[in-house]
Amino acid sequence: MKIIKNGRLISSEKMRKADIAIHNNKISEISENISPKDEDEVYDASGCFVFPGFIDGHTHFDMDTGTAHTADDFVSGTKAAVIGGTTTIVDFATQEKGQSLKEAYDIWMKKAKDKSSCNYRFHMAITDWNDRVKEEISKMPELGVTSFKMYMAYDNLISNDAEILACLQKIKEIDGVLGVHCENGTLINELTKEKIAAGETSPSAHPASRPDYVEAEAINRLAYISTLAGHPVNIVHLSSFAGLNEIRNARKRNQTITVETCPQYLLLDDHYYDLNHFEGAKYVISPPLRKVEDNKALIQAIVDREIDTIATDHCSFNFKKDKELGKEDFRKIPNGAPGVEHRPQLIYTYLVEEGYIDVMRMCELMATNPAKRYGMYPDKGILEVGSDADIVIFSPDYEGVITWSKQIQNVDYTPYEGFKIKGQAKTVFVNGECVVQDGTIVKENQGTYVLGPR
Ligand code: URP
Ligand code: ZN
Ligand code: ZN
Repeated sequence: MKIIKNGRLISSEKMRKADIAIHNNKISEISENISPKDEDEVYDASGCFVFPGFIDGHTHFDMDTGTAHTADDFVSGTKAAVIGGTTTIVDFATQEKGQSLKEAYDIWMKKAKDKSSCNYRFHMAITDWNDRVKEEISKMPELGVTSFKMYMAYDNLISNDAEILACLQKIKEIDGVLGVHCENGTLINELTKEKIAAGETSPSAHPASRPDYVEAEAINRLAYISTLAGHPVNIVHLSSFAGLNEIRNARKRNQTITVETCPQYLLLDDHYYDLNHFEGAKYVISPPLRKVEDNKALIQAIVDREIDTIATDHCSFNFKKDKELGKEDFRKIPNGAPGVEHRPQLIYTYLVEEGYIDVMRMCELMATNPAKRYGMYPDKGILEVGSDADIVIFSPDYEGVITWSKQIQNVDYTPYEGFKIKGQAKTVFVNGECVVQDGTIVKENQGTYVLGPR
């Protein structure tokens, strides 16, 4: 057995001093004082928080856009996850036009299986809605897929309102989750044309072509589609105050909406697009970075419990070669940025240490709620007897600086270069195996597919 001693155990509701025993891949005992036997391995968590393994509900590993391929695949992406304390990721298996959902699932399984250092599960991103896909939805839970995504933007991924409505009605039958990328693609295309016609081709034209109202309009429309379908929706990567206000309006109408945001929309703002030497391309993500006021409004919304989960939307493209495809034309910059490695440290440093939230709320946003939303609770997202032994011993004392040269993410920059951080995932367990010790990976490839709750 492995025994974690002297830690402060965190749940979404409370913090308590207790020891944890791990037998095989499960938590077998939690009590005030577990006495180790000679053969037991003991891990000292004195002075540390002990969290259920963090879950990143939004990653894109090993993904191709047609012009660029993500820098991180499941090997590097899940190693980066685990070193930060993320023990499960939910990646977007993305259907290509003409493909069935099962084909997309099989392709993603092949990308991840036997290559992952943290556990993995998939959302199914639907990009080609048709009768065959409609029939397939009811079979997806058997494969462990209970959450889906549709896009209201991107010409190659977009679904129209009728398709979103039909999909949501079908997902309602399996009590699944539909996450939606909320940006009005038609308006973005028009605004993009205007920018190009005006000769604006640099990264700063990217946020100008997709302003906050474009997100707000899509959220408002989606909320009404959700009302029509009689089933809740999940807003992924909320970026703006304007969008948040539409969520508030929908909730005032008693609409159930769940909301995800990401560290970049809390800690980074749109001044990065004006950096010299095309550096702004590093921040070309969709939705784009907003104003400092938006950052503040979203942090306050986290405090006020208006936001349910914090994920990363990790979608890494190298600056050299990939982002540089758009040197003359911002439309050609592949959209996305890395983040999976640093989310727990960033949220601990800038939200917990700054006094906005406590460690229990951090646990809720990054472990408990994503486990509940994406069909993994109570195997994951909580420390209790019978739960999976995905555990993070998090030391609050560590101090450091994020820098590209030290990261595990296989990408040639980090948007958080130079950010000071406090706290570190000192020891990490995945499925009962100790995979990180003193902040170093000691065992790779321990991740398994998460089929569903017990
Ligand atoms: O720019 C981003 N976020 N790329 C990833 C795809 C998406 O929309 O989530
Ligand atoms: Zn998206
Ligand atoms: Zn995404």
